Amino acid sequence: MKYLIVFLLTIASFFALNEAAGDCGKNRVQFINQIAKGVILKVNCTSLDNTLHTQFLPYKGKPYQIIFDEAFGGSTRWLCTLQHGKITQDFRAYNQGSMFPRCGQKRDYFARKDGIYLSKNLGPTLLKLNWAPPKP
Ligand SMILES: *[C@@H]1O[C@H](CO)[C@@H](O)[C@H](O)[C@H]1NC(C)=O
Repeated sequence: MKYLIVFLLTIASFFALNEAAGDCGKNRVQFINQIAKGVILKVNCTSLDNTLHTQFLPYKGKPYQIIFDEAFGGSTRWLCTLQHGKITQDFRAYNQGSMFPRCGQKRDYFARKDGIYLSKNLGPTLLKLNWAPPKP
């Protein structure tokens, strides 16, 4: 019991400090269309408690951003469908890593001709997955 209380106090002060720092900010997932001139990228995303409207992103247009907090308990997740032409790709664009909410997480997705690239927390931009072949 004593240990549980110490544990809870440690967690409480961790969150208090995090709040005090105050500059970490919300989490974001964003999408940028870099496929090709004239190609429109369709993006629609769903989380446990949110279904967002489909967005139509022009080539090299403004990024589409989803801004959110993580939930306590680790259930924050975004599933997204990207579509261009006959190609559709479902994938998990965001997954909460731990029970404790993080802040300031960034997932920047770049849709390109050969696939979907990801830069995590402004790190290197790497191929995350190839486009699935169009369904017959
Ligand atoms: C996106 O919209 C399509 C068509 O309405 C739907 O089938 C799909 O489940 C949606 N994807 C997400 C992640 O909400």
